[in-house]
Amino acid sequence: MRRNPSFLSFSQLKSRAAFGCKAAALTCFLALLLCAMQGVEAVEPPLGLEPAGEKSVSTALTDQQVEERVNALLGQMTPEEKIGQLVQVPGQAWVPNAPKPEDLVAKGVSGSVLWLSDPTSINRLQRIAVEQSRLHIPILFGLDVIHGFRTVFPVPLAMAASWDPPMVEQAQAVAAREASAAGIRWTFGPMVDIARDPRWGRIVEGAGEDPYLGAAMARAEVRGFQGTQLGASDRVLACAKHFAGYGAADGGRDYDSSYIPEDQLWNVYLPPFHAAVEAGVGSLMSAYMDLNDVPASGNPWLLHDVLRGAWGFQGFVVSDAFAVRSLITHGFARDPADAAFRALTAGLDMDMASGTYLQNLGALVQQGRVSTAQIDDAVRPILAAKIRLGLFEHPYADEARFAEVTKSPEHRQLARAAAERTMVLLRNENHLLPLKKDLSSVAVIGPLADSKQDTEGSWTVMGQRSSAVTVLEGIAHKVAPGTRVLHAPGPEIKRNIPSFFDALMNPHPKPAQTPAEADQAFNKALDTARQADVAVMVLGELANMSGEAASRSSLDLPGRQEQLLEAVVALGKPVVLVLLNGRPLNISWAAEHVPAILEAWYPGSEGGNAIADILLGDANPGGKLPVSWPRSVGQVPVYYAHNLTHQPETQRGFVSRYWDGLSSPLYPFGYGLSYSKFAFSNLQLDQPQVSLGGKLGISVDVENTGSRAGDEVVQLYIHQWAGSASRPVRQLKGFQRITLAPGEKKTVRFSLGKEERSYWSSAERKWVEEPETFDVWVGEDSTAALHTTFKVNP
Ligand code: BGC
Repeated sequence: MRRNPSFLSFSQLKSRAAFGCKAAALTCFLALLLCAMQGVEAVEPPLGLEPAGEKSVSTALTDQQVEERVNALLGQMTPEEKIGQLVQVPGQAWVPNAPKPEDLVAKGVSGSVLWLSDPTSINRLQRIAVEQSRLHIPILFGLDVIHGFRTVFPVPLAMAASWDPPMVEQAQAVAAREASAAGIRWTFGPMVDIARDPRWGRIVEGAGEDPYLGAAMARAEVRGFQGTQLGASDRVLACAKHFAGYGAADGGRDYDSSYIPEDQLWNVYLPPFHAAVEAGVGSLMSAYMDLNDVPASGNPWLLHDVLRGAWGFQGFVVSDAFAVRSLITHGFARDPADAAFRALTAGLDMDMASGTYLQNLGALVQQGRVSTAQIDDAVRPILAAKIRLGLFEHPYADEARFAEVTKSPEHRQLARAAAERTMVLLRNENHLLPLKKDLSSVAVIGPLADSKQDTEGSWTVMGQRSSAVTVLEGIAHKVAPGTRVLHAPGPEIKRNIPSFFDALMNPHPKPAQTPAEADQAFNKALDTARQADVAVMVLGELANMSGEAASRSSLDLPGRQEQLLEAVVALGKPVVLVLLNGRPLNISWAAEHVPAILEAWYPGSEGGNAIADILLGDANPGGKLPVSWPRSVGQVPVYYAHNLTHQPETQRGFVSRYWDGLSSPLYPFGYGLSYSKFAFSNLQLDQPQVSLGGKLGISVDVENTGSRAGDEVVQLYIHQWAGSASRPVRQLKGFQRITLAPGEKKTVRFSLGKEERSYWSSAERKWVEEPETFDVWVGEDSTAALHTTFKVNP
């Protein structure tokens, strides 16, 4: 028998509008949180930023001390209060009859609150928890702080394109500092889903297609958010999501089922999660979709056998929003009680926003279907996290400090440096870039050229107007005083089918341009380009065209952008294409006809300045693609680490799998140009053979043969010749981003051990390292040519 959802219903509630709530009226509330305990440095902080958050709010507690405090609390808690810790509610009453969060909090039956972003509201609710609830257990406030809070960094896919984990760690430390100052002690990030299908809108939130790069980014993000220990001041609890396989949704359609063979799970989709767990991530979020027919949020294999069993994870698991109740919608659970039972017993500790645990776990305990011990096991890691975070000692946000922290010029400086490091130069014929600063005129054209929100990308609406610098503004600031900067947006672009979130965030959208208005805008843009020496075309996708519920069936430039680009190129002027987007797009025409193309992603608060730095030569691009770039949507999925086949494409007569085009990507994984040139030579192994389990040293010389300083990402790929299962043609197993002065040469060293050579064999159904011959390539992308081989002996 199904019961009517009476607490919170998905369609009414699932909203980012909460983020828009109440711009904070900042009043001085508490003295600065004093926290001067032990300091441990994680990475060299750039730009004079202090290594944030290595001071502990609560003196680092031993596991035993934490356990004792948890047990002491559990001993005093009623069953209702225990279940309350497993309940996360939205920070506002969402529908007329839903219980008010303040009432739930006062009764001690809501352990966590989400979607509040301002310190005043957070403190108000926290005060109720701390002062009015029977046991005074503070609330853990959670929010999606994905790529910055007030200072917005480039989107995660862009951050992966930096191939620079220390920078990513620093950026997330800044995000943690700003968010924690607002009282947010838990971020729903990093998103570590591998994505090999750019139709999937959420590819923008992760690190792309590769498990090795994805694992490196996962570790860096966890360290950035959490610091070296939970409870470090200025840091937050991290949450690796969406466990697991969300990126493999059928057809790239968000929320659709994923079917992933076991070896692909272990070798491709799970490694970034495992890396996050090994880096000490305190929580995980279960995914929405069915994984091999079992919803991830009720999947004991994932949540218990893999996570707790194989990996020994000690933290807690939260569902994705409304995912517990969705177990019914999936056709998996019979009713809300069954949904609560199956999620909890699978290993899901906290119910995000659906109210299903709150309404059903009590009865399940009374009926003896769920034991008190099972409830206690779910509550323990949540209380432990609150204790380790120092929430009991410091439950409140310091509103004065929040104002000060979020104004930091160093944060903006880091955002600019980060954006510069994420951009990928895809084409630069005849050294069109960098442009001279004293051009007589430049036209900055396109619907994204002067849009603040689209410079930041999704997951950034925090009740604030965007303070991003647009491309137009960035260029205007940087060119010589005499240069004329012209602008025209061209025809507007829009989603054909608005998303559920659009309706909430922007309930009264302005009417779409009429065809006549669009024609006029098109002609004006063309005229503007005609008047300038150079046209910078800023094209791509609006922020709401990628992210959640933003999948596409095409990868073409939306609207009339392609037509406008072709018309501007036909004017015969030099044209630079700057892409703002969260996924590879079909730019096959541009790749042949537009002389310079810069992939700038959604670059964040300082995006326009960073783009201008690169276009006008104050910065040298060094980012590399974290995804293979398809020629068209028909090639999807296309990824470099595919297996060899019966007729490899290197064989004559089999150059493509298609007869109507090439099956190779337009740009390979790891690709990206620079204003410098780099030469690779002298690939050396420290021994030609190694025993199983042994380590092999590999070195290569890299020289900057260009005339300006620049960065190269030195990439190492391997291939195992034979084994119990077929192995990918190449796999990334090492990378280093280095900076070289003109003429400078460096020897870069890698170490290749058992971990890099092992894989989960579908034939053996276990992890294996096999005594076989391996290829090694080192170079500038996944097509690197410098090659050698080594043997692994039994
Ligand atoms: C998303 C999650 C997010 C959660 C809370 C869900 O719709 O899938 O990634 O963390 O909402 O905002």
